[in-house]
Amino acid sequence: MTTNLEVKVWRGKEEGGLVTYEVPRFENQTVLDVVIHIQRNIDPGLAYRYACRVGMCGSCAMTVNGVARWTCRTHVGKVAQDGKLEIAPLSNLPVIKDLVVDMTEFFDKWASARGSFKGAKTRYDDFALVEPGSPERRNADEGIECIGCAVCYASCDVVTWRPDFLGPAALNRAWTLINDVRDVTQDERLLAVSGDAGCHACHTQGSCTERCPKHLAPTAAIAGLKHLSITTLRRHK
Ligand code: SF4
Ligand code: SF4
Ligand code: FES
Repeated sequence: MTTNLEVKVWRGKEEGGLVTYEVPRFENQTVLDVVIHIQRNIDPGLAYRYACRVGMCGSCAMTVNGVARWTCRTHVGKVAQDGKLEIAPLSNLPVIKDLVVDMTEFFDKWASARGSFKGAKTRYDDFALVEPGSPERRNADEGIECIGCAVCYASCDVVTWRPDFLGPAALNRAWTLINDVRDVTQDERLLAVSGDAGCHACHTQGSCTERCPKHLAPTAAIAGLKHLSITTLRRHK
């Protein structure tokens, strides 16, 4: 006998409401499987986003029973409460339609935090080496696994309170580049993340670290930035 899940899904934009669907329950079913079932079998107009389905692309994040999660690797058995699921778009980002949010400001903040690499070598130079055992490489090790899913960003209260806050992902990215010995824009980057809406606005409550599906620690990265910002910028005064 097939049992059913009762699934409430957000439909609409900022204005909208939850619509209830009955979805057959399967073993090892993920939340993304549930959303795909609804769109393919019940309501083809449902908008959502995913690509890799294996936890690599970062595009499938949604709010599931009130908590931001990557849905392709979240099993229904882990999160359903009394056979019920509530699926909504990520918080802290504008809703385009249904479960799809506009990621523009999320990635604009990566740019504001100088989140792109700038090296000094040309194609004619030998490979730039990063010593695997160096303290800088170890500091950056974890953070470079970020998949840009915005789960941390959607979970951060400071982003909710002050939307100009650069947020955990952009700051985590800045920290990985600050520890990249090949990059030549460190002063510029440190200034960019030390402003009013930068690392010092973080309240260190750690929701980003608690929720990151890749088990990264943006809180630690931000603490590293705070320390560097205070010590370096004070030295330059
Ligand atoms: S630790 Fe900082 S960046 Fe992370 S969720 Fe809390 S306030 Fe946001
Ligand atoms: S730090 Fe973690 S939660 Fe935040 S965007 Fe990267 S992978 Fe996602
Ligand atoms: S679909 Fe790519 S991370 Fe979930």
